[in-house]
Amino acid sequence: MANDNNPAARYGRGAVVLHWLIALAIAANYVLAWVSEDLPKEERMALMGNHKALGIAILLLTMLRIVWRLVHKAPPLVETLKAWEAALSRVTHAALYFVMLAVPLAGWGLHSSASQGKAVGMFGLFDFPAMPVGFDKPTVGMFHELHEVFATLMLVLMGLHVLAALKHQFLDKDGTLRRMVPWMP
Ligand code: HEM
Ligand code: HEM
Repeated sequence: MANDNNPAARYGRGAVVLHWLIALAIAANYVLAWVSEDLPKEERMALMGNHKALGIAILLLTMLRIVWRLVHKAPPLVETLKAWEAALSRVTHAALYFVMLAVPLAGWGLHSSASQGKAVGMFGLFDFPAMPVGFDKPTVGMFHELHEVFATLMLVLMGLHVLAALKHQFLDKDGTLRRMVPWMP
């Protein structure tokens, strides 16, 4: 069904920049975590240092993005969405925001408990303080479990999100992608 419902309905520049910057940073952080698994200890620690710093940057950018989203109105939904599609997209977007906070928060807790209160070095620029948590084994284990479970949930949600965006763009041809891609006609 080709239609041209409301081509002016696009996200603003701030929302678009934050969307793609954060998406790129999240993808890079999975790569860092996965690649570092197979490396000898020293190289693994170096890569994980970047994983942690990038993860904290994602946490801060997500907080900025949520404030931005509350202050700036999102464009109205594509008019041809069925009620269940509109509801599912709202739930998925809310769930994405949740894991975008929960994954780095759990990682921050994991680092803070496992390293016994060390700050997170932010690419040598400044130190991000440790989360005030206990250093006992159960606390470390809990944050580890949360970090893994939320990171897996995030992968599932991102998969659903990308498949939905592509389905709307190429099967429904309802112009969904250009809402978030400013250079698309
Ligand atoms: C790490 C990966 C990603 C995350 C965490 C993410 C997150 C989000 C969130 C939370 C929204 C809701 C915006 C709002 O209304 O507040 C959104 C919208 C959108 N995203 Fe993503 N996204 C990611 C990757 C992608 C990719 C790869 C695509 C393209 C294939 C994409 C296409 C879109 C589109 C088209 C919208 C607008 C949906 C609409 O309102 O019609 N996203 N994204
Ligand atoms: C959106 C941001 C983040 C994503 C997507 C992410 C994702 C991941 C993934 C997929 C793993 C491998 C999980 C496993 O099998 O153990 C991992 C491990 C880890 N992450 Fe993150 N992470 C993020 C943020 C953070 C932050 C902010 C920190 C700390 C400040 C952190 C600290 C760690 C640590 C210490 C591990 C190693 C766990 C182990 O020893 O197995 N992560 N992360």
